[in-house]
Amino acid sequence: MEVIIQPNKEAAAALVARIVAHELRANPHLVLGLATGQTMECLYRHLVRLHQTENLDFSLCRTFNLDEYVGLFPADPNSYRYYMNHHLFRHVNVDIRNTHLPNGLATNLNEECLRYEATIKGFGGIDLQILGIGKAGHIGFNEPLSALHSRTRVKALTPTTLKQNAGAFGGEDKMPRRAITMGVGTILECHRCVLLATGDSKARVIAQAVEGPITSMISATALQLHPRATVVVDEEAASELREKDYYRWIFDNEPEWEHLR
Ligand code: GLP
Repeated sequence: MEVIIQPNKEAAAALVARIVAHELRANPHLVLGLATGQTMECLYRHLVRLHQTENLDFSLCRTFNLDEYVGLFPADPNSYRYYMNHHLFRHVNVDIRNTHLPNGLATNLNEECLRYEATIKGFGGIDLQILGIGKAGHIGFNEPLSALHSRTRVKALTPTTLKQNAGAFGGEDKMPRRAITMGVGTILECHRCVLLATGDSKARVIAQAVEGPITSMISATALQLHPRATVVVDEEAASELREKDYYRWIFDNEPEWEHLR
């Protein structure tokens, strides 16, 4: 795992955008895994800017989102389909038919989960997966006790997640209690993953995810098993990491990161 610390949330999101751009330019057919949440809004702003100012081309790439709420229509402003259209897809030249999210309205949700997995596999797997992290340490909606080999499935949301995401719904009682999410095992199969976390509310969980023991209670700790996982944080989210100076030294000196410095 590599940790890159940036001075603030804009710089952290800009760096992740540069990683996406680098991969997309190297492979225009990139299969890109995407995430939602407030943290990602900043990343998508930077990607839109790169599209507008540097012609970053999304026309051949395919996208797969990590998750979607059960029971929300795509036109519902709280659905992740709406979020993705609103923050990214309609501002860049991605072919909307190449953008995939689990269908939380499917009559048979278990079949939908299998279909989603098969579609990802059909495109040869995810090349680059972008991840956020929930306050309780989940990636996607892999809530505490998600098996580290889990596949795409329906998960019941924990009280912490309901509380964290309820604002947009106007209260916990108005939000779906279940979501379809890629499993931890599904996520670990991507070729490369980049987790973006900013703000002091993520400091504790970032320290646990990066430097703590691997546990299904905090699904982000499973990224320690991934051969190519990068965690990009701002100073606030990095504040509880013990080995900050070591991570900084690596980023400042490793030739691999030359193009991002
Ligand atoms: C939701 C999403 C996660 C995301 C998390 C963090 O739970 N399912 O994929 O990482 O929110 O959101 P935020 O960036 O708003 O803190």
